Amino acid sequence: MPSTVAFVARVDHASDEEAWLSALRAAMPEETILPFHAMSAEERNAAKLAIVANPDPADIKALPNLEWIHSLWAGVERLVAELPQPAPPIARLIDPELSRVMAEAVLAWSYYLQRDMPFYRHSQEQKEWAPRPYRQPGEMTVGILGLGVLGQAAADRLTAAGFGVKGWSRSQKEIAGVETFSGEDGLFDMLASSDIVVCLLPLTAETRGLISATRLFRMKKGAALINFGRGPVIVEADLLAALDSGYLSHCVLDVFDKEPLPQSSSFWSHPKVTVLPHISGPTTQQSAASVVSANVERWRKDGKLPTTVDLGRGY
Ligand SMILES: NC(=O)c1ccc[n+]([C@@H]2O[C@H](COP(=O)([O-])OP(=O)(O)OC[C@H]3O[C@@H](n4cnc5c(N)ncnc54)[C@H](OP(=O)(O)O)[C@@H]3O)[C@@H](O)[C@H]2O)c1
Repeated sequence: MPSTVAFVARVDHASDEEAWLSALRAAMPEETILPFHAMSAEERNAAKLAIVANPDPADIKALPNLEWIHSLWAGVERLVAELPQPAPPIARLIDPELSRVMAEAVLAWSYYLQRDMPFYRHSQEQKEWAPRPYRQPGEMTVGILGLGVLGQAAADRLTAAGFGVKGWSRSQKEIAGVETFSGEDGLFDMLASSDIVVCLLPLTAETRGLISATRLFRMKKGAALINFGRGPVIVEADLLAALDSGYLSHCVLDVFDKEPLPQSSSFWSHPKVTVLPHISGPTTQQSAASVVSANVERWRKDGKLPTTVDLGRGY
């Protein structure tokens, strides 16, 4: 009899837990999946796998024999920071549907900037008829910070749409049609030659505060920034200074130091800022559940785990 799978989540509404449980149970009818609060002491003790969405670390601690944890989110910095050590291996969500949706968002907001939408929004508010010359995607370069699963999906989509694409990552990559960079010098070179910079970096000890004034002012004058990774990778005060000084033209922010973005934040009403409520890459429950299901099936069959998070690197 296979051990019960624990579902450990801190969700805003009981209906969210129900929705996750029914998606997971539908994808894995052969598994017994129980929410942590409904598990007996015996079941908690026997559980080898926890499927988690923003779990309470105390609940994970109360599952002493876990062999691994499967996160339902792609970003795991909070999980990595909060889990009691030593933690079992963590698999994060790598979902082709999430990659597609995020790549679509990167393309949509790159078009938003390429087609001067922030400028026309302002013109409309001023009742000004002020056409600007059209720029083709091929006249613009988008530089992507982070060439992981999401960064590479975004690069593909942008390349197909005709944008010039560059990308920066920790290890040097070779990607057809993309000029790639790594290291500190590589970062400066990419920033200095991109019209739009898209951040798709995970939040780690190394990336926290990475995009500070030193880097922002090495971007092209008049360039724009999109942050779809994590808020604290960019120093918010430095970004505001770069926008207020007229150095950067616009930014599209989907992630912030504090979420929901506090009412007091100057981003809300800043004319050069587009605020999005963390919607660029939402998890789709059905596709996430089928990805988790395939990983669980493989593990049950031959004991193999999917690629797990490198806790030393933090992603
Ligand atoms: N806004 C949203 O709705 C949303 C949704 C999903 C995910 N996200 C965010 O997107 C992030 C990226 O997801 P992913 O699946 O693409 O992650 P991933 O596959 O782990 O890729 C991370 C990329 O960042 C690079 N990187 C990490 N640390 C670096 C450093 N110090 N210097 C240079 N490059 C560094 C990695 O380089 P290497 O390739 O050399 O390892 C890799 O290319 C997630 O961590 C999450 O925070 C946001």
